[in-house]
Amino acid sequence: MRVYDLIMKKRNGAVLSRAEIEYLITGYVDGSIPDYQMSALAMAICFQGMNDEETLNLTMAMVNSGDTISLQEIAGIKVDKHSTGGVGDTTTLVLIPLVAAAGVPVAKLSGRGLGHTGGTLDKLESIPGFRTEMTVADLIAAVKSIGVAVAGQTGNLVPADKMLYALRDVTATVDSKPLIAGSIMSKKLAAGADALVLDVKAGDGAFLKSREEAFDLAQAMVEIGNGAGRETVAVVTNMDQPLGRAVGNALEVEEAILTLRGEGPPDLEELCLVLGGWMLCLAGKIPDPEEGKAVLKKLIENGAALRKFKEMIKNQYGDDAVTENLALLPHTTNKINVKATGEGYISRLRAEVIGVAAMTLGAGREKKDSIMDPAVGIILEKKAGDRISAGETIAVVHAREEAGADLIASVDEMIRSAYELHDKPVDKPTLVFGSVDMKGR
Ligand code: URA
Ligand code: CA
Repeated sequence: MRVYDLIMKKRNGAVLSRAEIEYLITGYVDGSIPDYQMSALAMAICFQGMNDEETLNLTMAMVNSGDTISLQEIAGIKVDKHSTGGVGDTTTLVLIPLVAAAGVPVAKLSGRGLGHTGGTLDKLESIPGFRTEMTVADLIAAVKSIGVAVAGQTGNLVPADKMLYALRDVTATVDSKPLIAGSIMSKKLAAGADALVLDVKAGDGAFLKSREEAFDLAQAMVEIGNGAGRETVAVVTNMDQPLGRAVGNALEVEEAILTLRGEGPPDLEELCLVLGGWMLCLAGKIPDPEEGKAVLKKLIENGAALRKFKEMIKNQYGDDAVTENLALLPHTTNKINVKATGEGYISRLRAEVIGVAAMTLGAGREKKDSIMDPAVGIILEKKAGDRISAGETIAVVHAREEAGADLIASVDEMIRSAYELHDKPVDKPTLVFGSVDMKGR
């Protein structure tokens, strides 16, 4: 096989065989295929795409490029959840204890990554004392003992994705359905769950802006999961405005605790029930996701979900009193009210702009070595569909103690610009656009 010929083959729109795809991925990871050939191939894939079989072969070749984790030792069906990423998405924090409280084992491997706020790990680490560094053996032992644990990624999972993603990032080849689907699914398959629920975001704060693109990606990932023998369902959801009210690390932990108490924002609770309902369904606990929602709602109402969170925090050396006393989370005293200048109904609250504002405050990482502040972020007091009048507080900024006036003024301006107003009443946006399972949409 010659790499040149394979690049040409894809460039001309032909289908690569499994052996050819394995040869390319293996060669890239062992260094025998240089970046310039891989980037030409990635560009050819961007233009010509890949069929379902090629996409599955690509994904499996990536999975096999490094370590894989086995969760076989844990009894029961292990269901993992993945979100393609949005702004202020607090669902994972809520779902981990909520689903575990329903008796589904949750062995969560989580990342940090770049973004407007930290990843699930960063958020949990804002709880004083909370530790996420553990071996896979520790993770399994914790799940066997209390049914739930969250660990930072250990081992050398999917090195092919680390290399390929870095290459795509600088060669304008991130934006390809098979490459995105393969990238996401290879990491999920390597992490060992038996079944997967995917939250594919569409809208302003998502990397896919259109609903159609999101459904296409959802379909591709469901094909891969099921093709790999892991039952997979994708839910396509709205990320035009941030989810819930909080955008920030400790602020989102607080929001998760409120949601587990039954006092959370309605959109966040609803999405957790929808995704969690599917997780229960794939775990074989109930026959359909609607019934799952009712089961989970009860676990919130009777306190079981919050108790499970407390148990997990304690088991990972965190201060579990935070579930009763939110003041134990890191806070800033530097809070600024953002006031509406106009009046009307909020037709849009642009997630992307709010995300950038949160990052400007220090809630996220622009670069791998950016220093984040767990206490900072934004609380959105008003959301799409709400009516506001001039002078009313629409959001509260939680800034670093030492934040200067210029920074505050620019964040204030950004947040106000994220709110678009209309003079007539506006409906609350649809939260869930639909789902994709083995049988299709
Ligand atoms: N997220 C990933 O993990 N990979 C992609 O290619 C895009 C988004
Ligand atoms: Ca939120």
